[in-house]
Amino acid sequence: MANEIDIKNELKSVNYPGFEKSIVDFDFIKNIKIVNNSSCIINIDIPSSSKEVEEEIRTNVISALNKIGFKDTIIDINKPMAPTQKSNSVSGSNIAPQIKNFVMVSSGKGGVGKSTTTVNLAIAAAMQGKKVGILDADIYGPNIPRMMGLQGKEVEVVGNKAKPFKIYGVDVMSMGSLMEDGQALIWRGAMIMKAIQQLLRDILWEELDILFIDMPPGTGDAQLTLAQSVPITCGINVTTPQHVALDDSRRSLDMFKKLNIPLGGIIENMSGFICPSCETESDIFGKGTCDDLAKEYGTKVIGHLPIEPAIRQGGDAGKPIVYFAPQSVCAKRYMKAAESLISFVDEMSDKVENASIQPTTAPGVSACSTAPVPAKPKEDVNAGCCGGSSATSSEPVPQNSGGCGCN
Ligand SMILES: Nc1ncnc2c1ncn2[C@@H]1O[C@H](COP(=O)(O)OP(=O)(O)OP(=O)(O)O)[C@@H](O)[C@H]1O
Ligand SMILES: [Mg+2]
Repeated sequence: MANEIDIKNELKSVNYPGFEKSIVDFDFIKNIKIVNNSSCIINIDIPSSSKEVEEEIRTNVISALNKIGFKDTIIDINKPMAPTQKSNSVSGSNIAPQIKNFVMVSSGKGGVGKSTTTVNLAIAAAMQGKKVGILDADIYGPNIPRMMGLQGKEVEVVGNKAKPFKIYGVDVMSMGSLMEDGQALIWRGAMIMKAIQQLLRDILWEELDILFIDMPPGTGDAQLTLAQSVPITCGINVTTPQHVALDDSRRSLDMFKKLNIPLGGIIENMSGFICPSCETESDIFGKGTCDDLAKEYGTKVIGHLPIEPAIRQGGDAGKPIVYFAPQSVCAKRYMKAAESLISFVDEMSDKVENASIQPTTAPGVSACSTAPVPAKPKEDVNAGCCGGSSATSSEPVPQNSGGCGCN
């Protein structure tokens, strides 16, 4: 007969809706009681008041436990009342109120071009007259300093707050600039939450129209914390067009839905390859596959970016293509994508209230754990000024490189 440990192990297959982490790993299982070999009682605490989330968990728990012989499972789900206040669920207000709009750049998996997209879209939006910032919230692998040519640059600290860098028309801050080069940290739920909140609260962000936030891959604590700390105006999903990548993408799109974050669009990255010699566009990973996905989620593909060696070289050299080769095909596509995003942001900015774009979590409760969050986290940033030492590359960005040997 299965015991409580077997039940818990089985429940590890049940993810919290919209996330890649299970209800066990989120520590939402509060009690397991076995009544007899076919019946048990499970008590679950969830941080969302959404009926949809509750029902999904209920269905998935029943079917998981069915597999190990429990035909009659009683599930007691404890959830908070839907918040009535129209403000942020953690602090009662947007913790970075000088920023008008927050755009979360996410993907279902790593390496699809989130950081590249963030950098180029942000610069393109700044070039279109918006006051823009980039927050590198990828605490596991911050790449923005390299991509923006900021590697090794020291952070200026004023009082106990850090000043964002100003480069290529945008304000930038990254966890990578606040940690020693190569330093590896093991981030746990509460630390992730604190780090993300400090990146918003303890950085001297000026008044901004849009803060682009480059997320770690996937759907986890960082995404959840961010959505709880500030009202996210919209999410951008970056994906490559292979069908296997689209499967992962759905997770990220589902997460936006679960968090009530409007979708600003999909960037289909590494979508075909334009031959630098004959300008023929050929398919490598597939192309145009994201259109159906976009339709399914009620959004649109705002940019098809081909595989372009100059994009990669611009990223490695800290010389983003939009800024350094604005006449290139890719830069123009980023500009168009930014134009579409800006009009979406402007539209949402007027219409959306904070409450409707916050997760339905009770005030003062983190969705990462069911423990209450302190009303006012400590002010001191451990934001040192300990940037790394490697020099910024001065390699120019080629306008036209790579090749298919057609000439
Ligand atoms: N359209 C493109 N053409 C050529 N290279 C690209 C393109 N988009 C991104 N790259 C390159 O692919 C690599 C991965 O891109 P990037 O770091 O932006 O992905 P990411 O999704 O942010 O990854 P991670 O999940 O690790 O944060 C980088 O070297 C980048 O320069
Ligand atoms: Mg990245």
